[in-house]
Amino acid sequence: MESQNVKGTKDIFNKEAEMFEYVETVMKSIAATYGFKDMRPPLLEHSEVFSRAVGESSDVVRKEMYTFLDKGGRSLTLRPEFTAGIMRLIVQNKLYATEDLPIKAYYHGPVFRYERPQLGRYRQFNQFGVESVGVNSYFHDVEVILLGYITLLNLGFEGLKLKINTLGDDESRTNYKNALKAFFEDKIANMCEDCKQRYEINPLRILDCKVPADQEIVKSAPKMRDYLSKESQIRFNHVLQELEQSGIEYEVDDTLVRGLDYYSETVFEFHFVSDKGVNYGAIGAGGHYDKLVKEMGGPSLEGVGFSFGIERVVSVMQDNNLFEGILSDQSLDAYIIPMDPLYNTNALDVALALRANGYRVEVPYDGGKVASLIKKANRKGARIAIFIGEEEIRSDSLSIKDLKFNKQENIALGDLLTYVDEIFNEHECQCKNEEDKGEQCCCKQKDKE
Ligand code: HAM
Repeated sequence: MESQNVKGTKDIFNKEAEMFEYVETVMKSIAATYGFKDMRPPLLEHSEVFSRAVGESSDVVRKEMYTFLDKGGRSLTLRPEFTAGIMRLIVQNKLYATEDLPIKAYYHGPVFRYERPQLGRYRQFNQFGVESVGVNSYFHDVEVILLGYITLLNLGFEGLKLKINTLGDDESRTNYKNALKAFFEDKIANMCEDCKQRYEINPLRILDCKVPADQEIVKSAPKMRDYLSKESQIRFNHVLQELEQSGIEYEVDDTLVRGLDYYSETVFEFHFVSDKGVNYGAIGAGGHYDKLVKEMGGPSLEGVGFSFGIERVVSVMQDNNLFEGILSDQSLDAYIIPMDPLYNTNALDVALALRANGYRVEVPYDGGKVASLIKKANRKGARIAIFIGEEEIRSDSLSIKDLKFNKQENIALGDLLTYVDEIFNEHECQCKNEEDKGEQCCCKQKDKE
């Protein structure tokens, strides 16, 4: 049987795994500067958590959830997003009562959606996101947007586009939905099947339709801005003013309604078009919500958050060479070569001593010819090879070869760490003149000045 990964999933390994690690580390460390802390809801939730929160009219709930009955007959779902699970966690653990508000969480991990796989669209993908819950101030919308924007800038995204819109409060949305229903009433019969359902469940969603003929009709539909309550209009203006004040460019897009049902007021997406004109679509997206905590059985608290799709972030960065020169060096420091399997235990002891001091070390316990093991050490980027043979064991010593300068020395076992530390901390001579090395080296003198 040929083993194949499941359609829409992706193996992440080697260099790409380093890229994911790098991106997640940058995202976490910037989120921490805004006061967000790690939160880890389980991957499995009762299906109700998502159907209630994400909403029955969303494509995610209608068509895309990986839902199954477990052996106890419970309906469980692999999370299709994080926000609902984070709200369930906050309510179940009563964090709103025990923590200072707002509760600020960042999260990352795999999510699952049964979508049609295509470029940048997977069935299992990773998200990194934040949620700020419990304080109703438009400043939190602004901070969350700034965090997303600045994170992408830090990763090297230039030409980032922030699309923003408001869905207003309940009153605004009710009026707008009524206006949309009236507008589409005599058109819906000729629109796609999805739109017909959207018309019944949530006509706002029709604005999100990707069918070209339907998009044409949508162009002349009523605009949300004409149905906003005074409060929502003022709130949105404040958000835009603060973004301008912070020097962030944005584009108000009044067809932006988002695909999940829980939003109210501010919604936004980060889009990226490369220098070469490649449109990568939404790299991340989010918005404000006001009923999620209550829906999970908690008090009436508002929140705002966003999630990035990490596969998309990494793929943009790869295509635009944004990883160049920034991935940390993962190569080995030392390769310890036992000259006979008899000395494997001694090699392991030396490896443990070096690892305890932070060195990256491997031992080829399966043996091999010394020449080919040295080649292997070079391929693994090791700076030194350490040989342990009969002579070394007899004299309580080690033979250490500096693979960079092709120099070998025999040192007492007790001097191992001092010797290795010296090699790794050695002054890197810039003058490329072997004679010049040591205390008198011209660049060392320059350092002193
Ligand atoms: P979302 O727009 O559904 O929002 O997903 C956020 C991001 O996940 C998207 O912008 C995209 O980069 C990535 N993404 C979505 N679907 C896929 C896919 N099939 N393959 C690869 N990447 C994908 C949410 O999930 C909300 N929970 C965001 C949020 C947080 N709103 C408030 N707080």
